Amino acid sequence: MTRVDTLFTGRVYHRGEFKEACIGVEDGVISFIGKEVNAPSYDEKIDFKGLFIIPGLIDIHAHLRGMGLKHKEDFFSGTCAAAAGGFTLVLDMPNTNPPTNSRLRMMEKVEEAKTQIVVDTGFFFGRPEEASEAEKLVKTHAVGLKLYPEDYSRNVQPSLVEIVNIVRRNNKKIVFHPEDFSIIEQNRKAYPEMLKGVEKHSFIRPLEAEFSALDLFYKSFGTGAHATHLTSVESITRARVNGFTYDVSVNHLTLTNNYLLALGGICKVNPPLRSPEEKQRLVESLNKGTVPILTTDHAPHTLEEKNLTLYDEIPPGIPCFETAFPAILDMFHKTGLNLHAAIKAFTRGPAEFLGDRRLVAIIEGNLANLTIFDPKEEWKVKPEEFYTKAKYSPFAGRVLKGRVKATVVRGVLVFQDGEIKVERGFGEIYGMSEY
Ligand code: DOR
Ligand code: ZN
Repeated sequence: MTRVDTLFTGRVYHRGEFKEACIGVEDGVISFIGKEVNAPSYDEKIDFKGLFIIPGLIDIHAHLRGMGLKHKEDFFSGTCAAAAGGFTLVLDMPNTNPPTNSRLRMMEKVEEAKTQIVVDTGFFFGRPEEASEAEKLVKTHAVGLKLYPEDYSRNVQPSLVEIVNIVRRNNKKIVFHPEDFSIIEQNRKAYPEMLKGVEKHSFIRPLEAEFSALDLFYKSFGTGAHATHLTSVESITRARVNGFTYDVSVNHLTLTNNYLLALGGICKVNPPLRSPEEKQRLVESLNKGTVPILTTDHAPHTLEEKNLTLYDEIPPGIPCFETAFPAILDMFHKTGLNLHAAIKAFTRGPAEFLGDRRLVAIIEGNLANLTIFDPKEEWKVKPEEFYTKAKYSPFAGRVLKGRVKATVVRGVLVFQDGEIKVERGFGEIYGMSEY
């Protein structure tokens, strides 16, 4: 066997089990897995002594912002936070300023991102103005189209059907946010006053809006789309019946409406956090294997914005790159959440969604993207130490059991023990060159 660049050792997740093993990496690709006695010679050895090594976490739904929203997050702060949370590849959403809905804007975004990202990053585009623009966007590296409630749930114009068909024909993804905007608008009218605080959030955006959107989307565009951040088991059933793939966000798996009532604006997220019972049913669903993909929906805003008084002014979204996986580990210890199902839903599930077999598991020939964690370390969440610019969290002050210790992207140590180890721009744009 030839020499490898790096040999990583630890307790490696291989075929559903953790075993003491070595991973040899050559040019960013795994070329050896096995016992140390059989390992090839190496230039460098990184010993993760007893720590757990899993395939690099993949997040197919995140908001890195940048451009006109740099004050909330930029591509460096966002991807540093991703790396610190164990994520090796993240997909960024197009609801930016300006929106990423033309080829030119996509190129501008990529230009800005590529000098700043520290983990690999892919992009969705938003609803373009014209079908002809969709033809240009599908020829870029972009993963696909993201549609928001405002885009599809008032009245569907023929041009949107055409855009969806162009995206499908070119084998790009269609991801939609399932909340029926007409129901939300109607419910908002029930409170004509200037609402203060967030108590009415789940009345204004109830589960019915989610159910309705899942059926509306099917009626308008047929099957073959991905419904993101489902918040109930009933929604999962509807998505499956309609032939959609789907994910659940870690927010809805780890938090409830009680957090919104206790902490206010920082827990306002669309779709809203649901009841403890609904959350529990989602956990059981994950445990049974019917949540194939987890996402973070990392959505940073400034604390000043989150502390605004009026309901309509408080922007929705929870920053959670740095707590998502630890919160899952903590639930594994404390509530019997099935860790194998959760690991799969942050690794194999999203890799299969992308149709990218080089990311599905730690096997020879695959990319050496690895997430290293200590399942037992207890640590106090201190948002002021986060890499994200959004230095607040529903978990602030809580002790979580389970911590991300290191992140390896294409064989290179990107994050270890609280520190970013690579230069800005180390990350690659997903869908370009090497990928
Ligand atoms: O809570 C949310 N935040 N939901 C969205 O649909 C958008 C996101 C954001 O960009 O902040
Ligand atoms: Zn989102």
